[in-house]
Amino acid sequence: MRALLFIFTLLLWSCSGAPSKQPAATEQLSQRPNDDHSYANLDQINTQHLHLDLEVDFAAKTIYGIARHQMRNRGADTAIFDVKGLLIQKVTLGPKGAEKETDFTIGPMDKDSIIGQALLVNVDAKTANVNIYYQTTEASGALDWLDTALTSSKTKPFLYTQGQAILTRTWIPIQDSPSNRITYSADVKVPSDLLALMSAKNPTKLNKSGRYHFEMTKAIPSYLIALAVGDIGFKDLGQHCGVYAEKELLQDCAKEFEDLPQMMRVAEDLYGAYQWGRYDVLVLPYSFPFGGMENPMLTFANPTLLTGDKSLVSVVAHELAHSWSGNLVTNHSWSDLWLNEGTTVYFEQRIMEALRGKEIADILAQVEFGELQQTLTEMAADSTIQDSKLHLDLAKRDPDIAMSDIAYVKGAFFFRTLEQAVGRKQLDHFLNKYFKHFAFQTITADRFIDYLEAQLLAKSGTDFNYRQWIYEPGLPTNCAQIAAPRLDQIKAFAQAFNAGKDPFKPVIKYKWIRKNGKRKKIKQRTEVQYNAYLIQEWQLFIRALAPQTKPARLRQLDKQFHFAQTQNSEILCDWFVLAAQSDYIFEIKPQLKAFLNKIGRRKFVLPIYQALAESKKGMKLGRVIFQEVKTHYHSVTRNSAWKALYKKA
Ligand code: BES
Ligand code: ZN
Repeated sequence: MRALLFIFTLLLWSCSGAPSKQPAATEQLSQRPNDDHSYANLDQINTQHLHLDLEVDFAAKTIYGIARHQMRNRGADTAIFDVKGLLIQKVTLGPKGAEKETDFTIGPMDKDSIIGQALLVNVDAKTANVNIYYQTTEASGALDWLDTALTSSKTKPFLYTQGQAILTRTWIPIQDSPSNRITYSADVKVPSDLLALMSAKNPTKLNKSGRYHFEMTKAIPSYLIALAVGDIGFKDLGQHCGVYAEKELLQDCAKEFEDLPQMMRVAEDLYGAYQWGRYDVLVLPYSFPFGGMENPMLTFANPTLLTGDKSLVSVVAHELAHSWSGNLVTNHSWSDLWLNEGTTVYFEQRIMEALRGKEIADILAQVEFGELQQTLTEMAADSTIQDSKLHLDLAKRDPDIAMSDIAYVKGAFFFRTLEQAVGRKQLDHFLNKYFKHFAFQTITADRFIDYLEAQLLAKSGTDFNYRQWIYEPGLPTNCAQIAAPRLDQIKAFAQAFNAGKDPFKPVIKYKWIRKNGKRKKIKQRTEVQYNAYLIQEWQLFIRALAPQTKPARLRQLDKQFHFAQTQNSEILCDWFVLAAQSDYIFEIKPQLKAFLNKIGRRKFVLPIYQALAESKKGMKLGRVIFQEVKTHYHSVTRNSAWKALYKKA
């Protein structure tokens, strides 16, 4: 069937189980090598280099593109790509200028619309170039098109992409599996008053023609291809590091992230030379659904990190660490996300220790450990404890499931515990070798275990229960413990408060002093100061408060510490979650609405909607707010919040 017929039918296919017209298709589809989330027949034909010709049209909120795949072909008659929410116009074979149109078919959407559709292109055994002409649609979940009102400038629109885990296929027709690495280049045309950036070597200044060329010369997995377009400025921070942001935010970003060069030195000292040339951070608008995303050469970061006091820079340490764990050595499939994220959280904790000292780093780790414990308790309660294994079976499941405290924190504590078993020096030596040995490759749990056995455990004669850690649910009893004596004070505050006392009542003391030769009694008033404690300590305090603390008592705390007025979104999030468990949430409704309207980071937004959904009144409020603000969210956050509010089991 000719390609043209398919132009308008692709989206209609989404719910139908219509069989593919291509006889070879079912046969091909059953041979998916090792990745439950991609249709690609990588073992027969795989992309090695991708060139993108893109035109970004803000008026139509559409990217018009040609994806030019240079492929290694082992004699395939079909090349299979992943697509979701794309309109495919035509497919040609051959190098640019000598292209010939070829037939293609588009398979049905999977039952739960998780992985999307297979695009099957007729090729011959010698085909090395496949060019796919396409455009994005409203269903392109990776894309966030921001109207001017949602940007800092309020005068220019903004666009950014989010590829991980399986959203790259919603803006590029591609073999969207982390098991395949490609280099890429791109020619991107944008409105002439906007700057375009990618996860590649980047411009620092506007080009009047609106045309930008990009090269990523190191082979990366598809989820790391990223694009951002907006009224963006640049500031160099030294040591091959810099920040990009909307111009209004640039100065604040430079201040908040001024320690980046130092982080880079620390990271290189720990685990070897940085492999990607420059390391820049792009601070996106508030709708960005994550704290950070490790797009190579250009980490995407959330503006909620700009607290003015560097209290959340560990997120940047985390994304920088991904330049080794994740971007150099990549999880082969999403079942082993822990090999990306657990390793990275451990690395992040080590960077923070070098930067801020062990006491502070341990407090940060303690906050994360508390989150892990809560996640495990919830998993036990709702019978999902099987998902607390590090290695997960994700067949027919959304890979998003893997993004939990299990991969991150249980993963990090795997390495912390290993460190205790073999000693820091040995573990560091091992990780150094690991990043070199598997550089620009992918890793599975089994390959990791083989390497761990041979290069660390056997050599040091250590017995380690890695199978239990990786393949069994729960937390093994040998899990490393963190001593954080400084937190005793915070715990005591929470305990006293929960017991109905007021641990924050000013303490009045009288003291005799001598003034002008006379003895005089003076009054001394000491009060707990908000600034005397870390943001993370206040978080631990709020989290330790009894779930159904009465509104009057929350009001009292708010009067003293202004939790509901703070600009720190970590505190705000925890405070709203606690408040939602009583009627107090209705007293701080304006702040709640303002927060959910402005901020799109899922880690904050989702727990708040979930907490609201626990009561009838709260659910009603949550739904009203959600309906008002949902267009401000990226699809990642919008879909999760929608589930919390409308699909509660
Ligand atoms: N790579 C992740 C984000 C991600 C993971 C997106 C899986 C989609 C699927 C990123 O590095 C990350 O972990 N971000 C965290 C940072 C935190 C753990 C310091 C976030 O956004 O909160
Ligand atoms: Zn991460």
